[in-house]
Amino acid sequence: MVAVADSLKGRSFTRVADWSSNELLEVLDLADELKPRQQAHEEHHLLPGRTLGMIFQKPSTRTRVSFEVGIYQLGGTGLYLSAADLQLGRGETIKDTAVVLSRYLDAIMIRTFAQSDVEELAANASIPVINGLTDSSHPCQALADVMTIRERFGRLEGLKVVYLGDGNNVCASLMVACAKLGMAFVAATPAGYRPDEEAVRIARDAGGSVELVDDPRSAVEGADVLYTDVWTSMGQEEERQQRLQDLAGFGIDAGLVKEAGDDVIVLHCLPAHYGEEITEEVLYGPASAVWDQSENRLHAQKALMALVIR
Ligand code: CP
Ligand code: NVA
Repeated sequence: MVAVADSLKGRSFTRVADWSSNELLEVLDLADELKPRQQAHEEHHLLPGRTLGMIFQKPSTRTRVSFEVGIYQLGGTGLYLSAADLQLGRGETIKDTAVVLSRYLDAIMIRTFAQSDVEELAANASIPVINGLTDSSHPCQALADVMTIRERFGRLEGLKVVYLGDGNNVCASLMVACAKLGMAFVAATPAGYRPDEEAVRIARDAGGSVELVDDPRSAVEGADVLYTDVWTSMGQEEERQQRLQDLAGFGIDAGLVKEAGDDVIVLHCLPAHYGEEITEEVLYGPASAVWDQSENRLHAQKALMALVIR
């Protein structure tokens, strides 16, 4: 049976910033242990009878399916809760929702708009709260990202990760994770699309090398990882035309991958928009680790749940 330490039991995971490098590595190590077990269909019921409530205020394919399947594989059950169908959507407070759900569930995963709503939920819940994406962060994605990078290179320390495009929620969480785990981070974005200043400060305070540049071609030199995400995130649909104009030239195509070198890998959290931030050729090409990355959402989140749920 897989051994799971008690040290993280009860902890929420709302931002990468709040977890130490060792705590993040604990998740990655357990994820690496659980992955082959799941692939061999070996039972690993680390959370028998536990229930995860999953509140969604935005759409999802990967987050929903990987959490629901993940808790099931751990011996528990997942409950999909559309925010619109909860009393939360009719004005019940986050505090009351947190207190009540803590009486039924063993953990809550929430995908919503404001990071402050997730923090408020966590502050008032007596069970762990896991952030499944907000406007400013996507910490579970960052776990799967670093898991994939370590899987491909056998290490994290000293690698160079270049993020191209919109300095959004995914960029912010990845940047902080890279900083904590010894990777150099470069964000190549147009001037108005730089990553959140607070996230940059947190990453630099954690000792990370973070460069903000506006030339994608020179940024990819010496890169080990190229990363991109959609140019129009959920909730920004009205800005789409402007964003397409502003971000043109920051997409990953075969030419850019070639400039980065032979051993570079390409990551994308998905969903992808072909011909915008990435081409179909790159997504399905030899440098792409995107499909493993997507699978690793399952393994990383199972490890996270097994560590924090009592
Ligand atoms: N990457 C990610 O979070 O995908 P979903 O929006 O499909 O959950
Ligand atoms: N930045 C994207 C990520 C989707 C997983 C969004 O917030 O829509």
